[in-house]
Amino acid sequence: MMNKEELIAKAREARSLSYSPYSHFAVGAAVLCRDGEVYVGANVENASYPLCMCGERNALYNAMMHGKKKEDLLALAIVADSDRVCSPCGACRQVISELFPTEGKIYLANLKGDTQETNIAELLPFAFSEEDL
Ligand code: THU
Repeated sequence: MMNKEELIAKAREARSLSYSPYSHFAVGAAVLCRDGEVYVGANVENASYPLCMCGERNALYNAMMHGKKKEDLLALAIVADSDRVCSPCGACRQVISELFPTEGKIYLANLKGDTQETNIAELLPFAFSEEDL
């Protein structure tokens, strides 16, 4: 099974798939599944700026489009060329809380090699969920 460093390396590689001509801020993400499969994503921007899609959401949707369910996911790595580790935006936190397990590991990283391990409960406490509907 892939370890933390290997998953971060996959997310780092996925940055090359980023389409970010407006921000020039490439974000790569990788989702590790229980069966060992890894699904990557990168941010995809648009001239109509609000339509930009983040790398971590693309990675989660990629896993989902390959038939993976919340309980099949083990870890998520996110990498950007940021000064501190790349922390997901609020929209991504909400999507992670919907599609990624509470006990799943989330690895935030940058190109300098800084890493921080967290989870969705820490990133989005008191989240709105299906139980609130
Ligand atoms: N972005 C991500 O893909 N993930 C993050 O965690 C932070 C922000 C993207 C959105 C946009 O394409 C660019 O980075 C600058 O905000």
